[in-house]
Amino acid sequence: MSNYRNDIFDNRGSFSEFDGVYSDVDAHLNMLKDQDRCEGFFKAIKKYCKDKVVCDFGAGSGLLGVYALMSGAKEVWFVEREVTLHPLIKRLCETNGDFDEGVEFHICVNSSQIPDERNYFDVIISETIGDSGVECDFTYEYGKIARKHPNSICIPDRIEYYWTSIYEEEVQKEMDYLKDFPVNYLDIEGKGKSPFLPFIYMRGCKVRDKVDSIENKFHTLDIKNYPHDTYVDMKFNLNNDSLKDEHNFIVLYWRCFTEDLEIVNNAPQKPLGTFCNWIQFGFYNEGHKDYSLYTNIKEGGVNLMKLTDENSPKNQGRNERFE
Ligand SMILES: C[S@@+](CC[C@H](N)C(=O)[O-])C[C@H]1O[C@@H](n2cnc3c(N)ncnc32)[C@H](O)[C@@H]1O
Repeated sequence: MSNYRNDIFDNRGSFSEFDGVYSDVDAHLNMLKDQDRCEGFFKAIKKYCKDKVVCDFGAGSGLLGVYALMSGAKEVWFVEREVTLHPLIKRLCETNGDFDEGVEFHICVNSSQIPDERNYFDVIISETIGDSGVECDFTYEYGKIARKHPNSICIPDRIEYYWTSIYEEEVQKEMDYLKDFPVNYLDIEGKGKSPFLPFIYMRGCKVRDKVDSIENKFHTLDIKNYPHDTYVDMKFNLNNDSLKDEHNFIVLYWRCFTEDLEIVNNAPQKPLGTFCNWIQFGFYNEGHKDYSLYTNIKEGGVNLMKLTDENSPKNQGRNERFE
């Protein structure tokens, strides 16, 4: 194995920035560059895939299914809807494959083309997580396959949601900057009310090095028992001792597991300089205690609702929606 771990990528992603178009190989290079992501999945694949029949749902460049073949899987079904990636998956298999006789792989475009038999798959792998844990309809589709194979190991089998509160110097800096700015941006919508108030609504963020922050788990999406209802309301409140007066920022993030093995996360504990394919979400701590991350599970993304204000027309549509 090479010394690829010595490469540190720029988190601003000036090269191969992911723009949401999976047909483009740049999107896949961006995911390869996230070493924690790849190694997290590799660890689980190595543990669970030997001699197994595997489905790689949302195969992309084929990375995870190919690694399953390299780890001794006997049959792998790659499911990738971007057909332009299919020749790449095939060549990646051939380039890396010195597989035993009888090892099979299949490449198909959607889940209607994989074997219909219940419990056909021993392992289902899918990196269809997204910044918010729920990516478009991908995670929902993954849940449907997982339900059809209840005896399978799912990588991951659950997505746990957390909040933590921190002091973030940059947030305070932005507030102070706008207070002193020659043009008044802070009272645009009435005294102290402005879309420019830093982080007052949920924003994407990359918080790092918060090693001491206390984690508060508030919801779990279980892949095999994925919600059937369209809307899921992940309620949480900030009413506990971990929230200190000096904390000015709340960070929302997730961790993914298979059984007791943690695979990947976008937690703020990650060291500075870690290249992470995912962002977190954060918002200024303005003292509200009750919130909900509200999602249309079939479309993905999340909205932040301040529950005390949820019926106020002023708040309708004001919170950013994140994928
Ligand atoms: C986040 S990427 C992960 C790619 C690859 N597994 C990896 O880990 O590098 C998700 C992939 O799932 C594919 N995908 C999403 N929904 C799909 C569906 N319903 N059927 C097949 N592929 C899908 C996308 O086109 C994209 O390539």
